[in-house]
Amino acid sequence: MSTSEKMKAAVIREFGDFDVLKYEEIDIPKPRAGHVLVKVLAAGVNRLDHYIREGTVASELSFPHILGTDASGEVAELGEDVIGFEIGERVIVLPGYPQKQEETGIRPTVVAPSFALPGLHISGTYAQYMEVPAYALIKDETGLTPEEVATLPVALATAVHAIMQIGEVKKGDKVLIHSGASGSGSMQIQVAKAIGANVATTVRSDAKGEFAKKAGADLVINTRNEDLVERVKEWTGGQGADVVIDNLAGDVLAKSIEATRPMGIIVAFGFAAGPEVKFDIRSLFFSQKQLRGSMASDIEDLQFGLKLVREGKVKPMLDRTLPLSQASEAHRLVANNEVSGRLVLLPWAN
Ligand SMILES: NC(=O)c1ccc[n+]([C@@H]2O[C@H](COP(=O)([O-])OP(=O)(O)OC[C@H]3O[C@@H](n4cnc5c(N)ncnc54)[C@H](OP(=O)(O)O)[C@@H]3O)[C@@H](O)[C@H]2O)c1
Repeated sequence: MSTSEKMKAAVIREFGDFDVLKYEEIDIPKPRAGHVLVKVLAAGVNRLDHYIREGTVASELSFPHILGTDASGEVAELGEDVIGFEIGERVIVLPGYPQKQEETGIRPTVVAPSFALPGLHISGTYAQYMEVPAYALIKDETGLTPEEVATLPVALATAVHAIMQIGEVKKGDKVLIHSGASGSGSMQIQVAKAIGANVATTVRSDAKGEFAKKAGADLVINTRNEDLVERVKEWTGGQGADVVIDNLAGDVLAKSIEATRPMGIIVAFGFAAGPEVKFDIRSLFFSQKQLRGSMASDIEDLQFGLKLVREGKVKPMLDRTLPLSQASEAHRLVANNEVSGRLVLLPWAN
């Protein structure tokens, strides 16, 4: 494939509202030595993509910029010195990796100095092709469709990381997971259930409550008409949850702390309800609760998660697919909380 060939991509040339996402023709990247040109068959849309487009995550990007961290695809071309991959083979792009191969052994991966998230620090997945270092590809042995696979990388790997590594959830634990119908929440529920935990989750509508039940939640709390802390205390015999995974922050984090048992763990994972939080510090240290941050994932998290998928213990939560040309509409749906599970863009659909 010559560098002069063009591909379709959804790019931003400035920060702003949904309409700054433009569907354009740009050059197909030429894979450098050690890199693979991946034909992107499907790209998942994360809430992070919406934050990046708005300009609330990075204050500077090199424009035009391609968003997107989740991709399932196939090998289109091999750069020099790439071994172990064949043209046409199905692959999954790691949702974050060091750009320097010598840093791939650093754990957690996110602290590697050259760590990069596709779609944020480097070019992303909202395109027909992307260039990826061979060490940042996993062979896709799930047997799922490309759009199903594209729902997985970020949500699945970060769920394993947050629940098992940071939250230290064990069999029999009672875990509270917020927004159980969200892309992250619905995957976290499944991972927690797969390792034998009991799961309570929150939603703000009955329809999303049904979705969260299908993901496996034992208790669904509709926070529009139920008191979160009261319901969790009832569920845990007055103790509080062993672990809370907080995807929301904002005015919810204080309630998450209150709903956690003494010595329990609160994992700060996201801020769908806003990045600013306020809580009484005594609610944390008097009863020796631990507030821990969880960010991104290691390759082992994704490998473990994909094993759960192959065993049928975790299923993709695909909301719908849209052609890549409708990336702007996809962002509108995500921002307006009209998505359950993960929305996926198809770069080759009309
Ligand atoms: N730490 C990490 O590695 C990591 C990885 C992935 C995502 N995240 C973060 O986790 C958060 C969720 O991501 P996602 O991709 O799962 O998002 P998502 O699929 O868009 O879901 C977010 C959900 O949050 C709920 N919500 C929104 N505003 C709310 C509010 N004010 N109060 C209560 N609930 C509200 C909505 O569900 P209802 O309508 O049911 O309430 C919405 O569907 C984001 O902040 C994201 O950046 C972190």
